[in-house]
Amino acid sequence: MNVSSRFAVDGFGVVVTGGASGLGLAYGEVLAAHGARVTLIDLDADGVAAQASRLRGEGLDVRSAVADVTDHAALDRAVDEAAEAYGRLDVAFANAGIDPGVGFVGAWAGGQRPRVEKGALERYADERWNRVIDVNLNGVFATARAAARHMRPRTFGRIVVTTSLAATRVEPAIGSAYMAAKAGARHLVHCLALELAAESITVNAIAPGFFVTNIGGGHAHNPELQAAIAREVPMHRVGRPDDIKALALFLASPASDYITGQEIVIDGGWGLGTAD
Ligand SMILES: NC(=O)c1ccc[n+]([C@@H]2O[C@H](COP(=O)([O-])OP(=O)(O)OC[C@H]3O[C@@H](n4cnc5c(N)ncnc54)[C@H](O)[C@@H]3O)[C@@H](O)[C@H]2O)c1
Repeated sequence: MNVSSRFAVDGFGVVVTGGASGLGLAYGEVLAAHGARVTLIDLDADGVAAQASRLRGEGLDVRSAVADVTDHAALDRAVDEAAEAYGRLDVAFANAGIDPGVGFVGAWAGGQRPRVEKGALERYADERWNRVIDVNLNGVFATARAAARHMRPRTFGRIVVTTSLAATRVEPAIGSAYMAAKAGARHLVHCLALELAAESITVNAIAPGFFVTNIGGGHAHNPELQAAIAREVPMHRVGRPDDIKALALFLASPASDYITGQEIVIDGGWGLGTAD
């Protein structure tokens, strides 16, 4: 049996939140490269227009929409317009996310992780906490809800949520709202998967380790930080957006038909511990 046809997504209607950059852009690129019709949704109006235009220039079927996932009415409109443009919505990537700012230690890796006073619990501002929960958790809920409205009547769909290794392992270099939001999103995936399974709508999560994207002002582009992380990652390298594309295609395609409610960690083994 040759299963390559099970990965076909030709003609699929796809939306990706946070599609202008990093992992969301990688999801959009790989789906479009395999013949899907993709709408990149992002609050960065210039960035999302530029990426969609670049991909159209490569002959791919990509459009852009501007919405902040915390503005649920605007998000609904963007998803509805995409579904209307395609006459179907097969795949929704609930991916938009932000960095939570400083945590209670001052380094991502290594033996020296000094405490950072301004990242202490007592100084954690409501505004910072609420924004992270609003984007990284409430935004996932709102994206899944908008998508389910189109998927349930067709009894087919793929909802793919970007969680994080931080959903299960504390990363003290970043604020705790991030861990809380990602853990919440991880369990929300279980809830939605159970509810939607009978309609052949799968809901799964991709949990990345350390990937070089523009999150948090682009700190991941710092070569010294990359080297420090790579020393701890068992595969001794950081992740790049291209590393995530095959997993995204798998979870978006009929190949993953009988898999739901799962979180797949993609981290070069980082979550396992440190080997060498
Ligand atoms: N980069 C990593 O190492 C890593 C690790 C684990 C999880 N993640 C998760 O991956 C997802 C994508 O992040 P990334 O690393 O690609 O970052 P990124 O900053 O490169 O891309 C995120 C995109 O989301 C958009 N965005 C942010 N807030 C938004 C909002 N409220 N509404 C709409 N769009 C919004 C940004 O404009 C940006 O284009 C996030 O959920 C993040 O938490 C990233």
